[in-house]
Amino acid sequence: MSQALYRKWRPQKWDEVIGQPHIVQTLKNAVASDRVAHAYLFAGPRGTGKTTAARLLAKAVNCLDPDPAARPCNKCDYCKAVNESRFLDLIEIDAASQTGVDDVRDLRDKINFSPNQGKYKIYIIDEVHMFSNSAFNALLKTLEEPPPHAIFILATTEIHKIPPTVLSRCQRHEFRRVPVDDIVAQLQNIVKSEKLKAEPEALTLIARQSAGGMRDAISLLDQLASTGQTISLDLTQAVLGTATSQTVLDLVSAVLDRAPAAGMDAIHAALDSGTDARVLARQVVDYLRALLLIQMGNGGQVDLSADVRARAEKHAKAFSSADILRMIKAFNAAAADQRGGWQPSLPLELALAEVLEASAAMESPVPSTTIKKGLEILSQTGEEKPKTERI
Ligand SMILES: Nc1ncnc2c1ncn2[C@@H]1O[C@H](COP(=O)(O)OP(=O)(O)OP(=O)(O)O)[C@@H](O)[C@H]1O
Ligand SMILES: [Mg+2]
Ligand SMILES: [Zn+2]
Repeated sequence: MSQALYRKWRPQKWDEVIGQPHIVQTLKNAVASDRVAHAYLFAGPRGTGKTTAARLLAKAVNCLDPDPAARPCNKCDYCKAVNESRFLDLIEIDAASQTGVDDVRDLRDKINFSPNQGKYKIYIIDEVHMFSNSAFNALLKTLEEPPPHAIFILATTEIHKIPPTVLSRCQRHEFRRVPVDDIVAQLQNIVKSEKLKAEPEALTLIARQSAGGMRDAISLLDQLASTGQTISLDLTQAVLGTATSQTVLDLVSAVLDRAPAAGMDAIHAALDSGTDARVLARQVVDYLRALLLIQMGNGGQVDLSADVRARAEKHAKAFSSADILRMIKAFNAAAADQRGGWQPSLPLELALAEVLEASAAMESPVPSTTIKKGLEILSQTGEEKPKTERI
């Protein structure tokens, strides 16, 4: 199997790290002026560059390039050894699997030995918040008097779980979520170098979905690329399950037309073809939310394909905001409804009946027969009802 894209695209130089300019600047300066601290804490969301920066620092402090400002050079023996994960003085500990006090004691025993190869021994402790109390205490002892050749880099996604005693001994850097535009730019780079084909709207959707995590964005790109197809908005939405399906459009149109029968048909056709009821309810909520955004003039934030967007603009004009809010509430309740086990369509049917009822009450005259017909259909939808009904 080929190497995962996010590994292949791990920054090897400081200026390849995206979206963390303050941290990069501080660490670069520290290396250039030979003022590297003995303990660092890198905190921040998943996939934003903590481990990457830790390895860069490990490489830079041992790099043999005569110009400190050029470190890491990625050419000397030590840089190469780190890049190939065979540098003996870089010790990576995963606290998620080595939480015990023994692991830390072991580390403390070994730490006094001088580095094998380089100038510094670097300990990267990932997910350090997983350490037990006793492991933290053991670590603290080491942090109190680290040997001059040792550098600790602790990394965590959950800084609030780190004892203050440990925090106060570390130079702290908080990694930010990477801005959407920066992620899109990086995805574009990757698409170009890897000779992939992708629509710009798809890359924007990927970037938004990954909530500032570069690794998640690259992994998703990787997953989509592995289909061998062009990475289109449609494909991306389908994989993410964010597509606005025809069912959603039909359902919302049915509310607009006050056509309960059409609405019920749309629901049942979707569920019969295997759509999960709660997923459908969520898609309806997503779409209604998009209508609200369009009404508020924020249509740019909405990821919809061109044809769906054209329908959405019409829907956004046809409904009042109050209508949309009411629908969101009703379908959101359906999305959250855990019951409906024996009748999966029920929460959706109730939501539809509720919004139709409400719009009937608001704006008569709605033929009450229409509503009645809808409720009749609702009560007839029991083809797969079990023999014994639990209520
Ligand atoms: N700031 C960034 N700039 C460029 N690429 C990044 C950045 N952050 C993450 N990446 C990409 O994501 C991959 C994983 O990043 P990294 O291991 O540094 O994340 P992390 O912050 O340590 O995440 P975790 O908390 O899950 O351990 C990298 O190999 C790289 O491809
Ligand atoms: Mg990491
Ligand atoms: Zn080097």
